[in-house]
Amino acid sequence: MTELRIIRSNPEHAVIMSEYFMCNETHLAPWSPKVPSHHHSIDCWRRRLTEREREFERGESVHFIGSDTDQSHVIGSCSLSNIVRGVFQACHLSYSIAARYQGKGHMKLIVKHAIAYAFDDLRLHRIMANHMPSNIRSEGLLKSLDFEREGYARSFIRINGKWEDHVLNSLVNPIYKNLPG
Ligand SMILES: CC(C)(COP(=O)(O)OP(=O)(O)OC[C@H]1O[C@@H](n2cnc3c(N)ncnc32)[C@H](O)[C@@H]1OP(=O)(O)O)[C@@H](O)C(=O)NCCC(=O)NCCS
Repeated sequence: MTELRIIRSNPEHAVIMSEYFMCNETHLAPWSPKVPSHHHSIDCWRRRLTEREREFERGESVHFIGSDTDQSHVIGSCSLSNIVRGVFQACHLSYSIAARYQGKGHMKLIVKHAIAYAFDDLRLHRIMANHMPSNIRSEGLLKSLDFEREGYARSFIRINGKWEDHVLNSLVNPIYKNLPG
């Protein structure tokens, strides 16, 4: 297995993030929102990663990348977004892996890292992750990480130009499961 370095992304990753999304456009398109052509340019990524730094400082999201040890290219990415505190203490999880690394276990390692961060560092209660019914690989990944299916939302997210149904899943932080009150 390629050695994997998992880190929080920052604006210095604009070039490799742009390359990742450009090279994997065909692979990711069936499972991603449609975006304008310049969306994955280096400039757009620099701006996006800068905004993500602000979101991180405000406690709203955390974005990770898995790269090779030299950080020469992105292997996969994983985000904790829509972090809500108060009585909910939850977030959404999303992820993708480069086509050439698919099915080799790298994704699971990156997602495991994000889950540990959400539960151990952020002390969140629930991580929610959704997939299209036809996304068997995504379903398998979540099942292998003990996510539980909780529901089915019709016409849930606009993916590749079409409103798509999604299976709703979540994982509850085990430290809270047996606590009173
Ligand atoms: C979904 C996706 C991230 C899965 O990545 P992956 O590289 O296949 O994942 P991994 O190799 O780390 O596999 C992790 C687990 O997924 C499961 N899995 C992998 N391929 C599978 C398949 N074809 N069918 C069922 N389960 C599968 C396995 O159970 C594996 O667990 P194991 O280690 O216990 O065997 C990848 O296919 C992808 O990037 N797809 C395009 C983007 C996308 O769909 N993102 C998610 C949107 S909801």
